[in-house]
Amino acid sequence: MAETLKTIFGVSLVGSGSATPIQRLTNDELGLRVDTNDSWIRSRTGIRTRHVSGPNETLSDLSHKAGRAALKMAGWDPKSVDLIILATSTPDDLFGSAPKVQAKLGAENAVAFDLTAACSGFLFALVTAAQFLRGGSMQRALVIGADQLTKWVDWDDRRSCVLFGDGAGAVALEANNSSEDGLIGFYMKSDGARGDCLNLPQVQNHLPLVPGKTHQRGGFSSIQMNGQEVYKFAVREVPALLGELLEAHCINPESIDWLLLHQANQRILDAVADRFSIPTEKVLSNLFEYGNTSAATIPLMLDEAVQDGRVQSGHLIASSGFGAGLSWGAALFRWQGPT
Ligand code: ACO
Repeated sequence: MAETLKTIFGVSLVGSGSATPIQRLTNDELGLRVDTNDSWIRSRTGIRTRHVSGPNETLSDLSHKAGRAALKMAGWDPKSVDLIILATSTPDDLFGSAPKVQAKLGAENAVAFDLTAACSGFLFALVTAAQFLRGGSMQRALVIGADQLTKWVDWDDRRSCVLFGDGAGAVALEANNSSEDGLIGFYMKSDGARGDCLNLPQVQNHLPLVPGKTHQRGGFSSIQMNGQEVYKFAVREVPALLGELLEAHCINPESIDWLLLHQANQRILDAVADRFSIPTEKVLSNLFEYGNTSAATIPLMLDEAVQDGRVQSGHLIASSGFGAGLSWGAALFRWQGPT
């Protein structure tokens, strides 16, 4: 019997979900721990609070809640999902947390794996999932961005601890065979040569094994960051890549409905918006509430704006993720929503 040939043109973003820990930590509360204050943190970053995981909140729990909400919005049976990609740098298990999320969701037919690209992780995972769908081998993917960087912050380092929070966000992505591709275009970049300005390195710990031999014991230090270098990198590279992408697709910045950047610092968001003369009302921002949740920021923000009706079906979104690696990427996509 002749095999039916399916023509796959593109993908549609049809559902979103998010989850954050219950515990909120304000700037004033942080001032009880390190020499900082609300006014400094707000003026330099825009952050007012962040959500910090409590004792029973795991990365896979947050991911599961966000994923479940995205499946519900899409109206999908978990068993119909073919692929789950969990973008995270802070898994519960170094072997990967995605399979645990798959099991919790009851998505027994999905292959599930982690993808690590720090704050660019969600964008890289979205693009990766889209390739499987466009290739025609899979129909439905759940892309989750989740991080618990507060586990890896040095809470006595005021230069970095004020920035980070925990959270998860998810998007349901479906293959379509209409000529409308929800992922209009993307670029992704890495530069390991500049990676030293932001990392979470292994601690060197050599222990005796047998006489004359040693072994390395696993373990990581806390987040090490040169804030000024990361800032300069972001305000230089993000507008450059986004500009190239817009030009390549002949899209005028005026026709963008929303600018959805990785939520690292309000000053970075403002600088990128200024570069393209995008008015403040079109810049999505919720970092005042959550801080930098790494791979979660983009889907967490997207879900909030979908839920409150700002982002509507057909809206064009210009997005960029950037961070450790160094890694950065830009994508242009249209939100479709449930059909
Ligand atoms: N409270 C009070 N004072 C502080 C604090 C604080 N929390 N942190 C630093 N300071 C002091 C410094 O000690 C310094 O004082 P000094 O002049 O007496 O030495 C002064 O404030 C200025 O410090 P800078 O580091 O120059 O401050 P800057 O204006 O650069 O802001 C910041 C720092 C907010 C970290 C900024 O550089 C930034 O946002 N960088 C980007 C960081 C980022 O986005 N990282 C995540 C990337 S995503 C990922 O992959 C995880």
